[in-house]
Amino acid sequence: MTDDLHALHAAAVVIAARSGLDSHDAALVLGSGLSRYASTLPDSIEIPYADIPGFPLPRVAGHRASLFSVPIEGRRLLVLSGRVHAYEGWEMSEVVFAIRAAISTGARQVMLTNAAGGVKDTFAPGDLVIISDHLNLTGRSPLTGQNDDRLGPRFPDMSEVYSRNLRERFAQVFTNLGITPHEGVYAWFPGPSYETPAEVEMAKRLGADLVGMSTVPEAIAARHMGAQVVAVSLITNLAAGISDTPLSHHEVTDMAERSISRFTSVLDRVLPILVEHD
Ligand code: HPA
Repeated sequence: MTDDLHALHAAAVVIAARSGLDSHDAALVLGSGLSRYASTLPDSIEIPYADIPGFPLPRVAGHRASLFSVPIEGRRLLVLSGRVHAYEGWEMSEVVFAIRAAISTGARQVMLTNAAGGVKDTFAPGDLVIISDHLNLTGRSPLTGQNDDRLGPRFPDMSEVYSRNLRERFAQVFTNLGITPHEGVYAWFPGPSYETPAEVEMAKRLGADLVGMSTVPEAIAARHMGAQVVAVSLITNLAAGISDTPLSHHEVTDMAERSISRFTSVLDRVLPILVEHD
């Protein structure tokens, strides 16, 4: 972990040099289908992941691999366009490296986005859901191994992973935009196969409202470092067994494509909240 700290520092130094800014206020991780959003933000400075030491390069089509430094109402946001997933074979430390680097540049609030399968009866494809809590069903953690107390505590509290304050403020934005502010518990599955109907039924009985293959490791690492976290999922499909139709990656990307303008209008309104701090 000592090496991690040096690696994070090296990444933060490059981000500072290329953006011309010693620090950033917040970070946004763009999930499947959303990566184009970064290039719609005016006056952003793009830094390819390939130019930042330690940044793993995504291997999934549809995930662009760049970081953007973006001015928002006098503050600075880092947008991570493209993430790596545990199912690609990365170490957990690699899965969370980019978000840890963003927090190392000063980001105190983190927003995570993803595509997810709907489990709760009232969720439909196209719905946006604010994650209220999670179930880690993978048995993996980005905190496994020796702890570096300079990054965070050995046993970090997880009683409010997803900031109640940010969730409430985001829900208000949804309502103002005429979008139902759904909330739900996200169950992290390892993938890359979609879940079986029995696994989805199990997750449902355990309290899951939606299922996916990302987000939880980043949320844990961000909380470990003391950042505030908020996460929004796009329901791209009903989870296996909730609907009878077989799942396909195409269905997921197609729904992401069709929902991008609604997700974008939400992002435009929540980012000023995300970059705020005392
Ligand atoms: N399961 C897991 N991950 C997903 C799904 C799903 O149904 N939809 C989008 N990402």
